[in-house]
Amino acid sequence: MLKKIKENIYFLNTVDWNRRLFDSLIPIPDGTSYNAYLVKGTEKTVLIDTADPLLSNVLFDYLKDVKKIDYIISLHTEQDHSGSIPLVLEKYPEAKVIASPKGKELIIAHLAVAEEKIVTVEDGEELSIGDKTFQFIHFPWVHWPETMLTYLKEDKILFSCDLFGSHLATTDLYVSDECQVYESAKRYFAEIMLPFRNIIKKNFAKIEAYNIDIIAPSHGPMYNHPTFIMDAYRDWISDRVTNSVIIPYVSMHGSTETMVNRLITALEAKGIKAYKFDLTVADTGKLAITFVDAASIVIATPTVLTEPHPMVSYAVKLANILKPKVKFASVIASYAWGGKAIEKIIEMIPNLKVELIEPILVKGHPRKEDLKAVDKLAEEIYLKHSAINLK
Ligand code: FEO
Repeated sequence: MLKKIKENIYFLNTVDWNRRLFDSLIPIPDGTSYNAYLVKGTEKTVLIDTADPLLSNVLFDYLKDVKKIDYIISLHTEQDHSGSIPLVLEKYPEAKVIASPKGKELIIAHLAVAEEKIVTVEDGEELSIGDKTFQFIHFPWVHWPETMLTYLKEDKILFSCDLFGSHLATTDLYVSDECQVYESAKRYFAEIMLPFRNIIKKNFAKIEAYNIDIIAPSHGPMYNHPTFIMDAYRDWISDRVTNSVIIPYVSMHGSTETMVNRLITALEAKGIKAYKFDLTVADTGKLAITFVDAASIVIATPTVLTEPHPMVSYAVKLANILKPKVKFASVIASYAWGGKAIEKIIEMIPNLKVELIEPILVKGHPRKEDLKAVDKLAEEIYLKHSAINLK
């Protein structure tokens, strides 16, 4: 059954309750949804995006009584939105696909749709479907280069694609629990959009100009109070950091954890929040969330065959590609007989534009002087944070 948003506008959300990993990389503990939308004008009918092909049967169930589709607007070519386009075109062979010029290139490459089936639209271009008008807004790099949003002028709805999305399986049409959606949306922002936050910041002004009643994203529930998520994004794309330290670590025989615990105690005494992540069990999505706000990161690792522990290397690699906002970084390493764990970690984070605070290297179990060095590291972090007015 079509779920009505407004007269002739419908929400076709394919809820994926069971999915726990996205792109074979990103943990999504609350599942997700692939949202398509159907808009019937007096002259034409439009489908906005489709669904992951694994669940295309749900999409086709929504469409079972829809006789004609004139346009499929493809906001983003990643397959969770576009993957069912070829199947929709089979059912509605007269339909044309609307995409940005870059989107056209990617649709041909990923979905083998015939070139003549695709119509491109420029930034700001409009499409009338009779009594309703879409305006297209090119919004690249949230997180692919072809992405666009579209605004339905008469109904003041912004179809925002991945932007403002949340990986959240729910029966809600609209956000009912802002705290829950805040975390899901922040996790999603951290996992794919954080590396592009400066580009998003530049493009954000484009949507500030619109009068928006509803934000209709491609994942999770819609927003009928858009200020909530717009304000959250304004904060996440800003340069603001909080008086906090991320501590991702692994400990094999307790030495590293002893130093991590000492650091947390020392930071706490100075009023600095610590986020401790044992990487052998941590949810890397939670770790990514801290990348959005924390001012510092201290990576702590034992040495395995002269290298950082592989689970630490993975988290450091992730941090390097997600480009956290952190301004200060340090490393705590322990070793049994030798190695270059600290140097290797520093080599792995060229994307982090950070000031490096003197790392700590400990042989075996930490002694008094090692723990004093950890206290000194906490003091250094405190001074650095104070210097940029963090409290
Ligand atoms: Fe929801 Fe970038 O795909």
